Amino acid sequence: MTSNTPGRIPGDRFLHAPGPTHIPAEVLNAMHRQPMDHGDPRLEQLIAVCETGLRRLLQTEHADVFIFVSNGHGAWETTIENLLAPGQAVLIPGSGHFSEQWAIQAEATGRRVIRTPYREGYPIDASAVEAALRADTKREIVAVFAVHTDTASSATCDLKAIRAAIGAAGHPALLVADIVASLGAAPFAMDALGVNVAVGAGQKGLMCPPGFGFVAVDARASEIAAKNPAPRYYWDWGRRKADYSYRKFCGTAPQNLLFGLEAALTLIEREGITAVHARHALLSRAVQAAVECWSHGGAVTLHCRVPEARSVSVTTIDVRSGIDIEALRGVARERFQVAFAGGLGPQTGRAFRIGHLGDLNAAMILGCLAGIEAAMLVQAIPFGRDGVQKAVDCLAAG
Ligand SMILES: Cc1ncc(COP(=O)(O)O)c(C=O)c1O
Repeated sequence: MTSNTPGRIPGDRFLHAPGPTHIPAEVLNAMHRQPMDHGDPRLEQLIAVCETGLRRLLQTEHADVFIFVSNGHGAWETTIENLLAPGQAVLIPGSGHFSEQWAIQAEATGRRVIRTPYREGYPIDASAVEAALRADTKREIVAVFAVHTDTASSATCDLKAIRAAIGAAGHPALLVADIVASLGAAPFAMDALGVNVAVGAGQKGLMCPPGFGFVAVDARASEIAAKNPAPRYYWDWGRRKADYSYRKFCGTAPQNLLFGLEAALTLIEREGITAVHARHALLSRAVQAAVECWSHGGAVTLHCRVPEARSVSVTTIDVRSGIDIEALRGVARERFQVAFAGGLGPQTGRAFRIGHLGDLNAAMILGCLAGIEAAMLVQAIPFGRDGVQKAVDCLAAG
């Protein structure tokens, strides 16, 4: 009887980090099988199904999809290594912690980074992107690296406006979008948006375990990568353009993760991508309605100042100084079985974050919010007491 095992928690612990996210049983079960030998034709089929499914989800007809045994940082690195030679410039508009981390990584690998400022609580400013590109009269900027949803600030930028800004500046820079935290939650259409490279990972909206990153690369980005003399091997997109799985993955393919990805893509397609987006929009509205109500207690407030930019994947909540967020998280996790995230970068110790993406439904969101309310009560953090009720109202209204 596992229920009598010391330390066992009855029921599930609710995982409300903005990645890794809850993994559906279908995905876990799909991974629970023996791997194949490298020459098994079913392996090539599995990879093809994953690539085609990702292409459909990304809404791109022709982009090459390359999957890496990595995480989001690996997907960032392959983008840097393929598009930019050391010394070349990239424009990284400030979206928060994740744009800054990508910029630091690009600089650490010898690239020159031009930043636009991050304004706390606001999404990327497309007019600042246009101004930075106009100022680049020598056309040295190779690409704009934009984080679609910055998981730290919980703001989602307007990629259409950023593409328009590049056009308005008459600049040839590529548009590269980090969709690590938005894919499978927020609408994204690579071809229609004019995104040249999309950069993702499996452990968030894709409902897979951590362990793979991927990029989708259009023809123009592919051409630039092919001409880039930067030395590279594992991350090289040219090397990945192969039929044989061992070459495509520069070694052994992560077969069990691919079984999981295949199952996750099937779940998304079965629900329907529009329905998936609508579900995320509704659940995020419920969370934001609860937090709005909590804020009447004067201790917590929504971090993102622009309502239409509030992410459907994650909500960052600023807290008054003097509140111990790690203690709150500890009580919520250990006593009420609700795991949520802390603030990142400049928000460390000043904010917490509720992840609401992936394999989630209304009951799970209500459980999460109620668990956080219980933890706030225990910690004597004042909050408007109708938060869960506001979320219920929102979910009932649909
Ligand atoms: C928007 C965004 N980009 C990149 C990353 C980095 O991904 P990873 O932690 O898998 O390296 C994250 C991680 O949370 C993220 O939220």
